[in-house]
Amino acid sequence: MNLKGRSFITLKDFTPEEIQGLLDLAADLKAKKKQGITGDSLKGKNIALIFEKPSTRTRSAFTIGCLDEGGHPEYLGREDIQLGHKESVEDTARVLGRMFDGIEFRGFKQDTVEKLVKYSGVPVWNGLTDEYHPTQILADFLTLIEQFGHLKGLKLVFAGDGRNNMANSLMIGAAKMGVHFTILAPKCLWPQEDLVELCREYAKESGSVITLSEELSAVEGADAVYTDVWCSMGEEDKAAERVSLLRPYQVNKELLAMTGKDSTIVLHCLPAVKGNEITEDVFDSFVDVIFDEAENRMHTIKAVMVATLGK
Ligand code: CP
Ligand code: NVA
Repeated sequence: MNLKGRSFITLKDFTPEEIQGLLDLAADLKAKKKQGITGDSLKGKNIALIFEKPSTRTRSAFTIGCLDEGGHPEYLGREDIQLGHKESVEDTARVLGRMFDGIEFRGFKQDTVEKLVKYSGVPVWNGLTDEYHPTQILADFLTLIEQFGHLKGLKLVFAGDGRNNMANSLMIGAAKMGVHFTILAPKCLWPQEDLVELCREYAKESGSVITLSEELSAVEGADAVYTDVWCSMGEEDKAAERVSLLRPYQVNKELLAMTGKDSTIVLHCLPAVKGNEITEDVFDSFVDVIFDEAENRMHTIKAVMVATLGK
C-alpha cells in the first residue's frame, strides 16, 4: 500500500485493499503503543487541525496521533482563523499549504474540504463534514475485526438518522469491505438514492448486500447494531421532529432481542444522547466495546497520517 501524498476525504476514493492496509497499519500501531513504542514518522511535520464544529475524540486522536509520531499539531478553531468569513477558503488553503505539511478539517460543507485539497497542495484529512465521517469508519471496522476476527460477511445494522454523515460513510465502507449493511429508519431519513446506487455497485464487487428498511424485523441476524445521535451538529432546529420520527428505532433491549442472536454487539460513534437513540442499560452493557471503538479513533487516525504523510 502506498498512500503517500494522498488526501482522505471520503472512503469512495479508496480501494478495499487500501482500506484493509490502513486497518492493518492501525492494528500494528496500536500493538506498538500498548508496548510503549511510539514512532518518529511525522518528525518535522507540522499539522493544522481546523475545527468549525466541536470535537472530543477526533481532535484528541489527531493531536495524540501526531505527537506520538513526533509531529507538531496546531489547533485552529472557528474563532481563531478567517476561513470562510474574512478570507476565502481557497486563500486560507493556499496559506496553510505553504506552512503546514498536512491539514485536518472538521466542519460543515464537503465542498470546503474539497477546496482545501485543491488549493493547499498537501494531504487533507476529513475529520467530519455534514456528508461524511470517514475516519470514524476505520475505528468502527478495526473494532469489528477485534470482536469478530474479520469483516467480510458480517451483518451491520444502523438504526437512526439514515441520511447523516455516519450512515453515509458506514454504507460506503461496508459496501467496499463486504459487510452486509442495513439502514433501519423511516423512509424520509434514508440516504440519497444516488449514493445507495453507488454503494450497490461497490457491493457487487465485495459480495455485500445493502438493505434499506422501515421494519424493525430487518435487525434479525445482526452481528452489530450501530447508532448515532438523532440530530447531528448543525441540525439542532430539527430536534423535536427527529425525536418523533426516530423514537420507534431506539436501540433498546427489545430491538436487540429481535436480532435472534446472543452475540450481537452495539457500536456508537459517540457522543451519545442516552434515552434517545440508545437506552442507558444497553449503553452500559456494551460500554467496553464502545470505548474500545473510541480509543481506536486514535490508532486509526494515526495510521491515516502515517500512511499519507509519514516517512
Ligand atoms: N465520534 C466523534 O467524531 O467524536 P467527536 O465529535 O468527539 O470528535
Ligand atoms: N452524526 C454526528 C456524528 C458525531 C460524531 C454529527 O454529525 O453530529
